[in-house]
Amino acid sequence: MRNFDAIVLGAGAAGLMCALRAGQRGRRVLVLDHARQAGSKILISGGGRCNFTNTGTVPGRFFSNNPHFAKSALSRYTPAEFLALVEKHRIAWHEKTLGQLFCDGSARQIVDMLLAECMAGGAEIRTGHRITDVSRADGFRVSSDHGEFSAPALVLATGGLSIPKMGATGLSLDLARRFGLPLTETRPALVPLTFSGEMLELMRPLSGVSLPAVARLGKQAFPEAVLFTHRGLSGPAILQISSAWTEGVPLRLDLLPDRDAGMELLAAKRARPRAEPRTALAELLPQRLAQSLAASFLPDRILAEQTDKDLRRLGAMLRDWNLTPSGTEGYAKAEVMLGGIDTTALSSQSMAARTVPGLHVIGEAVDVTGWLGGYNFQWAWASGWAAGGSV
Ligand code: FDA
Repeated sequence: MRNFDAIVLGAGAAGLMCALRAGQRGRRVLVLDHARQAGSKILISGGGRCNFTNTGTVPGRFFSNNPHFAKSALSRYTPAEFLALVEKHRIAWHEKTLGQLFCDGSARQIVDMLLAECMAGGAEIRTGHRITDVSRADGFRVSSDHGEFSAPALVLATGGLSIPKMGATGLSLDLARRFGLPLTETRPALVPLTFSGEMLELMRPLSGVSLPAVARLGKQAFPEAVLFTHRGLSGPAILQISSAWTEGVPLRLDLLPDRDAGMELLAAKRARPRAEPRTALAELLPQRLAQSLAASFLPDRILAEQTDKDLRRLGAMLRDWNLTPSGTEGYAKAEVMLGGIDTTALSSQSMAARTVPGLHVIGEAVDVTGWLGGYNFQWAWASGWAAGGSV
């Protein structure tokens, strides 16, 4: 049995950040992961370039049962601090859009940076270790297929349930449950939405069509691209709204933001009465979508023969299309898990469990889920930093 000051379960974004800080504070840290390599989700993130933070990070861009919980950690480890680390390692980066910062080169640079910082603090990282048991008696004892380890502090950092193919498991959730911590309901988020019936019939042939739009649900509104897929809708605006969506609830799409679609269709009718509706619509929307909407919503006649009322009605629909998804593409396609370990059980300063001395939970396993665009990594860094300063 080898003893450490802290054992971190999960060598992902949050776990590595926690280990590097604790190690650099002089703690003897062990990080255990069942995957062959550390940071596997970082490696595939941002299309291989890792959208490692967002300069617009504010607590309002995170979903949680307690929207105040993330404030403390986010304010004590900011995007500017992570960026300073990136620059210290001479990693070239760029802002893509909406405050999203990416590596110019490869996500591998972020993983290498974190590993180098862990090494500088003397943290030991062991991958390819299957955790077989975790028990608590005078500290924590972790059993693995490569031996047993003990420490007075244990950090749960095995992430969420998304992409099980990549090795995502519910280990942190299971252990939290075992140690008596409450959980909030979990579900896939930042995930494509599926449709059925007539709506799917309309959407399926449009697979690949993308356009700028605004997706709305309640008070949430995301002006970004929408993409039609063979199962329904995806694209950044849809991924964003999926985190707010619950079964049976319609979302609203504005396919022509800032335009008066009804007026434009009426103007087209006056200017070119013999034109077909799909031609007029194709001046506003991608051609395949225009064709499909014209076929579905306007009778098969020239513009002059359409009533003004029908044109206005279609115009209004294009600005506020009510759509009820049948479901999501699930954890197989979700970028993150919504919900997790209830923040009421944790200190927002240190991520320590209030009722289990030495136990900490960080990253996606906690009920804090960011918007698309680098927010989830920023939460992983910030919560990892907070716990790394406490263990
Ligand atoms: P993370 O998943 O990073 O790490 C958990 C670690 O625990 C893994 O190394 C895993 O192998 C290990 N583990 C799991 N179960 C275990 C077990 N039973 N035993 C031992 N080890 C175990 N976010 C963002 O901000 N910008 C982006 O560009 C992207 N892009 C992106 C793309 C894709 C395809 C996905 C799926 C996700 C993203 N994300 C993202 C989200 C981001 O990857 C995610 O929120 C963070 O990685 C969460 O960090 P954690 O450290 O909590 O978990």
